[in-house]
Amino acid sequence: MDCIIVNNVYKKFGSIKALHNLSFSIPCGGRYALLGPNGAGKSTTMKILAGLLKPDQGEVYIKGLRPGDKQVKRILGYLPEDPMPYRILTVRENLEYISSLRGVSNPKQRAEEMMDLLDLRQYENVQAGKLSRGNQQKLAIALVLLHNPEIVLLDEPLNYLDIPTQERVIGILKQMNATFLVSTHIMSIATRLTDHVIVISRGTVIWSGSISELRAMGREDEPIESIVARLMSNVG
Ligand SMILES: Nc1ncnc2c1ncn2[C@@H]1O[C@H](COP(=O)(O)OP(=O)(O)O)[C@@H](O)[C@H]1O
Ligand SMILES: [Mg+2]
Repeated sequence: MDCIIVNNVYKKFGSIKALHNLSFSIPCGGRYALLGPNGAGKSTTMKILAGLLKPDQGEVYIKGLRPGDKQVKRILGYLPEDPMPYRILTVRENLEYISSLRGVSNPKQRAEEMMDLLDLRQYENVQAGKLSRGNQQKLAIALVLLHNPEIVLLDEPLNYLDIPTQERVIGILKQMNATFLVSTHIMSIATRLTDHVIVISRGTVIWSGSISELRAMGREDEPIESIVARLMSNVG
């Protein structure tokens, strides 16, 4: 069964065609990277899947339901490109509040677990707005994963994180048994966290396949970044 279906989606912002006949699907449990040059439409795709934007045309289904449906919200974890936890709440308060909003059974305990998991304990009483950008990103990731989502949409998740935290987050995400769509410019994230890639440009899919199919398109010893750059430049 496909857990994510995007079918002939179009989205314009004024005269800008952000998405133009975009179609792809992701089987349940699939781990997919969403690649594309700046402005390709990755974040717009994520926002539509998260139910924050409506497509002008086309259909989107999450486990057969519409994005924004109550049932979908319960199983979805979405990390926006520019996440903003509640600035005046502390790290602990953010975690407890969002846990209770999401119906997590023991919000206090879950907040503790997430602080340990993401190494946020030393900031537990600091207001989110006063954290460094990297620590805000850690908190945002903790908030997305609180309710153990079945479907995880991550828009450039490792932005701003230091290398030890990147490794920690990759470890956490690898262990999760979920359907993943992760947008990134960092190919090592794609190859370590996902097994398929969807490459979009100008709002439409220009290539999709497994990581090994992607590698097979390269010359011997060609870095995967170079293969992807070639794919993207071929469409101009
Ligand atoms: N809210 C918006 N208003 C106007 N244009 C937008 C808006 N959001 C995105 N766009 C435009 O849509 C295109 C796709 O943007 P985006 O989905 O953010 O690309 P990506 O995440 O791949 O870099 C870009 O040309 C961008 O400028
Ligand atoms: Mg983006």
